[in-house]
Amino acid sequence: MAKEGNFFGRDIISIRDFTRDQLERLFQSVEDLEKSPNSLDDLLRGKLAALLFFEPSTRTYSSFQIAAATLGMQITGFASPATSSVSKGETLHDTTRMFEGYGADCFVIRHPMPGAARFAAETTDKPVINAGDGSREHPTQAMMDLFTIRKAFGKLDGLKVGILGDLKYGRTASSLAYALSNYDVELTFIAPEALQMRPEVRHFLQQRGTTSKVERDLRNVVGGLDVLYVTRIQKERIPDPTEFEKVKGLYQVNLAALKEAKPSLKVLHPLPRVDELAAELDATTYANYFVQAAAGLPLRTVLMSLVLGGGAR
Ligand code: NCD
Repeated sequence: MAKEGNFFGRDIISIRDFTRDQLERLFQSVEDLEKSPNSLDDLLRGKLAALLFFEPSTRTYSSFQIAAATLGMQITGFASPATSSVSKGETLHDTTRMFEGYGADCFVIRHPMPGAARFAAETTDKPVINAGDGSREHPTQAMMDLFTIRKAFGKLDGLKVGILGDLKYGRTASSLAYALSNYDVELTFIAPEALQMRPEVRHFLQQRGTTSKVERDLRNVVGGLDVLYVTRIQKERIPDPTEFEKVKGLYQVNLAALKEAKPSLKVLHPLPRVDELAAELDATTYANYFVQAAAGLPLRTVLMSLVLGGGAR
């Protein structure tokens, strides 16, 4: 359906499935919502959203929850596996079937297993939104990351973006890189070798013709960057604890590390942060991460409105 920019009834599994044009239309709708914040209120009254979070979450869960409530939807599901029958060994398949029986109109799923959202989408006819599948993808985070950068600079083309931290296990890093490949950007992946971007991601970028280089030390590149996207080490996903010991605390983005940065540099972080991003940056003009987190709400509200067919454009 052209009117909905091809979001209607659609699964949101990988950011790779979206064209630049579709993303731009989504961002335009988010801007529209920001201009008239009540314009989507109650649009989806009577519909039921099942939020199934098999992994902990603060921002993603609560922003989907508030978004669904703003749209007038009823909400069911669970915020953590500890409070559901998943802790008794119930499978993803049985869980989605069950909620479908309760009348769920869409699923928002976070799961530790890569590919889980895709698998869930194959077991139900209702739209599935991937809220993070293991170390692989986090498409709605990438959408809000792009939206935030675009808002800060008024554009995405021409920007030099550094993505720093755990690029191997961090799903936000790979989804952001995929998303940015729709634009004319220069990417630098800043990480210790053990946590560098996965080969399949670099291969995809290469095929899309996106320039990406790898770097170990932020100091070598920080002066040329427009955006620095910082991520935490995904301790829970590193299989060997001795590997974690080798990399923990290896980088810390603080004022000293940004000494050579352009005054216009914007620092983003999907949050939660641990020790990789110093609180001393919070009061500087570099800090864009709380603005970024806040963008999750209008973005997810618009996305659900488009997927479930009541959207503004
Ligand atoms: C991220 C995630 O869950 O992948 N958090 C989020 O959704 N904002 C990042 C992380 O956990 O490090």
